[in-house]
Amino acid sequence: MGAGGEVCYPCRRSAVCGVASCVVAGMGCVLVVAMVVYLMFRPNLLHATAAGAELSTFSLALKEWTLSYNLSVGVDLTRHNARLALRYHSIAADAYYHDQRFAHALLPDFSQPASTNTTRITPSFQGRHQLLGGLAAAAFRREDTEGIYSIHVTMAAKTEIKLTPCHTPI
Ligand SMILES: *[C@@H]1O[C@H](CO)[C@@H](O)[C@H](O)[C@H]1NC(C)=O
Ligand SMILES: *[C@@H]1O[C@H](CO)[C@@H](O)[C@H](O)[C@H]1NC(C)=O
Repeated sequence: MGAGGEVCYPCRRSAVCGVASCVVAGMGCVLVVAMVVYLMFRPNLLHATAAGAELSTFSLALKEWTLSYNLSVGVDLTRHNARLALRYHSIAADAYYHDQRFAHALLPDFSQPASTNTTRITPSFQGRHQLLGGLAAAAFRREDTEGIYSIHVTMAAKTEIKLTPCHTPI
């Protein structure tokens, strides 16, 4: 059982410990382990929703296929367990135009305390990037006349879960 052994078998060290308290301690241990496993694998613990996007510059210098962009995206991170405090770090966002990554952004670490349900983060990208090959440039010319650009943004972050003490039964 490794490091969990002393928590799960408290009676080893106590001479006055009865069978009943051993059973109670053992059940408590099983409950804690089950809860941690549940929290780790609960699929809907976090929800990310796109809350808006602003594209103030998106143009292509046709000779060099250089894309100039100024884009910001709003993403709402919603946590579905009010007792959990979450800490996010190594938050990175990438923007793609027709499968070509044209921008990368790092976001500051932040914490979501147990009382906050939703936090909005707004990754933003500004700069220039040279598109490779003619496909993306051709797609740009087509989409430019339609006025709709197919931009994909992906995000990745590491999260730490912090359980806060509670006084009511679960
Ligand atoms: C990008 O757009 C935002 C508003 O949409 C503006 O405030 C900002 O100055 C722009 N940045 C650059 C580098 O043009
Ligand atoms: C936020 O969480 C609290 C506590 O769980 C809940 O009562 C409330 O309805 C939630 N608010 C929203 C907007 O989801």
